[in-house]
Amino acid sequence: MDKTAMLTLDGKSYTLPIIAGSEGERAIDVSTLRNQTGCITLDEGYGNTGSCRSQITFIDGEKGILRYRGIPIEELAEKSTFVEVAHLLIMGRLPNSPELRYFSDLLTDNELLDEAMKHHFEGFPAHAHPMAILSAMINAASCFHPELLTDRQHDCFLVQAARLLSKVRTIAAFAYRKSRGLPAIYPKPELKYTANFLHMMFSLPNRDYALTPEVVRALDLLFLLHADHEQNCSTATVRMAASSHANLFASAAAGVCSLWGPLHGGANQAVLEMLQAIHQAGDDGSRFIAAAKDKHSGKRLMGFGHRVYKHYDPRAKIIKRACDEVLAELHISDPLLDIAKHLEEAALRDPYFIERKLYPNVDFYSGIIMRAIGIPVEMFTVVFAIGRMPGWIANYKEVMESSARICRPRQIYTGPTLDHYTPLKERK
Ligand code: CMC
Repeated sequence: MDKTAMLTLDGKSYTLPIIAGSEGERAIDVSTLRNQTGCITLDEGYGNTGSCRSQITFIDGEKGILRYRGIPIEELAEKSTFVEVAHLLIMGRLPNSPELRYFSDLLTDNELLDEAMKHHFEGFPAHAHPMAILSAMINAASCFHPELLTDRQHDCFLVQAARLLSKVRTIAAFAYRKSRGLPAIYPKPELKYTANFLHMMFSLPNRDYALTPEVVRALDLLFLLHADHEQNCSTATVRMAASSHANLFASAAAGVCSLWGPLHGGANQAVLEMLQAIHQAGDDGSRFIAAAKDKHSGKRLMGFGHRVYKHYDPRAKIIKRACDEVLAELHISDPLLDIAKHLEEAALRDPYFIERKLYPNVDFYSGIIMRAIGIPVEMFTVVFAIGRMPGWIANYKEVMESSARICRPRQIYTGPTLDHYTPLKERK
């Protein structure tokens, strides 16, 4: 295979190196292009741009493959847990027993928020969206750890990582309690990561939430399946912030803001709202599909389509199966699941979706599981954010350990050419 690419421009030829990844993907290295030719590359939406080299997650969107540190997502979903996977992503390997015990202890030791932070929660209006609270409070939490602001190398990165991963769960639960006017419930050190989140979400001061293994397992699986997804919008945001040497908490808070949008993590909330609207309208989904195909309707089939997957999203396959299992275990029959399945079948037969290679993505069925286990719809994207945290942390670490320059794209300016200031009274 060629090791270089030739570019001809204005009658001159330039040689550009080809970079190959460990799975055979290839890229043309254009890092010297502007110096050599005066030209930049333009790729709005970055569909053809590799922004970094990374050893964390591999996706083959044509084949529907997703691996964390080389391990297929299907194997992890079946055999592992969210905390193990967080260690895998952040430290690059599955933990052995002492490492897992150490990491779990760190998570427990860091589960509390500084009491002063409780006043910040009070300042938010009732019904504030928990994603707004989450990003603000992650940033606020950095103020209670001044070493984050000064110590760029972090003596022990795992301690900082565990601190963020543990506190984000407490912040998320407190944000929900605040949005419902309920008192905050403190974490219990004897509970594991996911069980503790459910406890802080749903226990009352006078009555503990009854944890069931089915519910804990289902939520842990959702966290695990969301844990990383290479250079998606929010992870790219985290890396962008990290490249300016912003601290870990600030970079993660930026990731939360990017994740919130309905084309990204906010799609899980949008899917459920779409299914509810279809249900209330008495539509079996056919009318909605027709609208989603009409560019003027302003509607899209939420939970469908993906920039990278041109095949079934492997996470969606696992979640769809889990959905059936969880609803059966909990003896729940949800009409929204029937609508979702009907929408999927109809879309996968429809030439519009076939031609554009639009398949269900991770968000299509996840909301139905969350609804079944009692997570309110405005918390769906927060659950995604907790799940994605290990991926953001691992990507942050990779940036900090590299000698990468600050991320600073260029642009093609299309505004007015030189103009001059017009005094106010002469303006039309
Ligand atoms: N419903 C109807 N048409 C769609 C959809 C959809 N869900 N998704 C893409 N299309 C059409 C789009 O209109 C375009 O058609 P045409 O070629 O005729 O102009 C074509 O398919 C390509 O779409 P695109 O918008 O250029 O694709 P993209 O790679 O820029 O966007 C996406 C990817 C995920 C933002 C998009 O598919 C979408 O908006 N999906 C719905 C929102 C959603 O489910 N987001 C979650 C993504 S997965 C998890 C995550 O990232 O958080």
